[in-house]
Amino acid sequence: MSKSSPIFVCNSCGTAHKKWQGRCEGCGAWNSIVEEAPLSDGGPKALRSKGRTIVLSDLATQEDPPPRASSGIDELDRVLGGGLVPASAILVGGDPGIGKSTLLLQAAASFARNGLKCLYISGEEATAQVRMRAQRLGLQNAPVSLGAETNLRDILTTLDAERPALAIIDSIQTMWLDTVEAAPGSVSQVRASAHELVTFAKRRGVAIILVGHVTKEGQIAGPRVVEHMVDTVLYFEGERGHQFRILRAVKNRFGPADEIGVFEMTGDGLAQVLNPSALFLSDRDRPASGSAVFAGIEGTRPVLTEIQALVAPSTLGTPRRTVVGLDSGRLSTILAVLEARCGIPFTGLDVFLNVAGGLRVNEPAADLAVAGALLSAREDVAIPPDMVLFGEISLSGALRPVGQTENRLKEASKLGFQQATVPSRSKTGTAEGMRIREMADLTAFVGEMFGAG
Ligand code: TYD
Ligand code: MG
Repeated sequence: MSKSSPIFVCNSCGTAHKKWQGRCEGCGAWNSIVEEAPLSDGGPKALRSKGRTIVLSDLATQEDPPPRASSGIDELDRVLGGGLVPASAILVGGDPGIGKSTLLLQAAASFARNGLKCLYISGEEATAQVRMRAQRLGLQNAPVSLGAETNLRDILTTLDAERPALAIIDSIQTMWLDTVEAAPGSVSQVRASAHELVTFAKRRGVAIILVGHVTKEGQIAGPRVVEHMVDTVLYFEGERGHQFRILRAVKNRFGPADEIGVFEMTGDGLAQVLNPSALFLSDRDRPASGSAVFAGIEGTRPVLTEIQALVAPSTLGTPRRTVVGLDSGRLSTILAVLEARCGIPFTGLDVFLNVAGGLRVNEPAADLAVAGALLSAREDVAIPPDMVLFGEISLSGALRPVGQTENRLKEASKLGFQQATVPSRSKTGTAEGMRIREMADLTAFVGEMFGAG
């Protein structure tokens, strides 16, 4: 068998070359080509003869569910899937200044008070600063061990000696390994540091929470590069101007993804919001045109939100389409369906769409409420203030029923709503004593709510 010649591969685009060269022809990167060992041809000396045989089991093997530690903060426990799983790795991402350090200091204090040994390592603030924040939050007596360090070798040595149940690393972008020649915050440092910490977590049974800043600039690696290494990815979202903060699970190996926890930033830290619907509807003024209440589902919970629209004559050649809290592509689709199927054009009109309170709505079920708000704004006719709407709009203009209709109605009824507009064939159940209007398509909806359109 002839010895196969070595191959050279570009590290940034993966193009293979016959010989080493300074610049990759595939992507133009300099100094990115490295030699790679040729792949084995599966011959007699192949890998398969040198390993151990691993022990296999079948799918029916009984495994106890992992014991979970509760923080006592219900909103956090729910997002984690029912508490903290030992030896798990969690990433908490979010914009700088949104409140990640505040949330995790409060979480550390709660876990510590529940008997978990907690370590909080800050790479961004001095211990005195963290202590000052703890004092402000009234947590100075919680048994949390504090450290300020960015050298990962020192941190891992400390964790190995201390063996806490939970270590919080704030933030992964400040950590650096002396074996990697790159600045802290660069992709290679972030990836290597996260890998070391996650491997350590699994081997030594320490749960690790990594804080990661999401930044729009390319220089500092966002937490995206560590997402696949960890078990759970939580994002802490919210508008700076609003006091609401939403902790959202986007990946969870130990619980449902898409679960949310709602918090409010107050003078003394983050407070849980156990009834988010009441909060998101609280700043609703008197019935006005351009407003529709959407009965949505966030994770496992129904949440009511107000969708607001403003439609005004445009002075621009291409009218504005401004969306906050919803997908702008979805708005375009709904506008197109209104025009093509119901003959209601929005040409020459600026359209502004907004979810009140700073929540992000991703459900297609919001379509009908969006259409309601748009039509109400355009026709200057208010939707009854005691009505909720939900339903998906298909391109044909038909309304499609959505899941969990009963839960949505139950939440609306609890908050004093008395009417609901839903797609035909929705499984409304007992309807919770509400007056239900079922609509087969958007044209029927327009006719019923706003006259013939
Ligand atoms: P912080 O947790 O430092 O954000 P991050 O770690 O995500 O960068 O939170 C910073 C903001 O939170 C800051 O603008 C002030 C505000 N804040 C309060 O409103 N109340 C509080 O009790 C605390 C501690 C912070
Ligand atoms: Mg911080």
